[in-house]
Amino acid sequence: MKNAFFYTFFFTFISLIVLSTSFSAMAEGDVKKGKKVFRKCASCHSVQKGENKIGPSLYGVVGRAAGTIDGMKYSKVMTTSGIIWNEDNLRKFLARPRAFLKGTKMTFAGLKKEKDLDNVLAFLKDATKPDMTKAKTATDATKTK
Ligand code: HEC
Repeated sequence: MKNAFFYTFFFTFISLIVLSTSFSAMAEGDVKKGKKVFRKCASCHSVQKGENKIGPSLYGVVGRAAGTIDGMKYSKVMTTSGIIWNEDNLRKFLARPRAFLKGTKMTFAGLKKEKDLDNVLAFLKDATKPDMTKAKTATDATKTK
């Protein structure tokens, strides 16, 4: 009986370890940490829809065609790049902007750390995913008019 107890305990323990390691392997970037990394971008970029600074609004940037925000004066390389931003090319662009897109107006040295890239991408995806509460308020606002 003592053995049975030991084995149950032992296997629960092992499966907990296996579970927690597979969870941490699954975890990609950390949104909170990404928000901190985004401070490096925030002098030039906002994640608010339609808010352009020196750089274009990054609202919904993942899945967006490069150089397509109205009212932004992009560089020629950006508008003619034919890029659709995804995690892969954003990662390359943000690691070394001016090496990835020679002639870009984005004067940013780049993010050296893989973790910073993971985290800032997690933040960008989180901050700019369609927000149901905002959408609802917008419809409500039109209704009351
Ligand atoms: C010094 C200002 C500056 C900083 C800092 C900066 N950017 Fe930019 N960014 C720009 C400008 C200007 C452009 C337009 C580039 C062009 O037209 O070639 C741009 C373009 C971009 C684009 C392409 C957008 C589009 O509409 O195609 C992305 C994505 C982007 N920046 C992400 C970032 C992120 C993420 C950071 C921080 C890690 C960052 N930028 C830091 C100025 C900046």
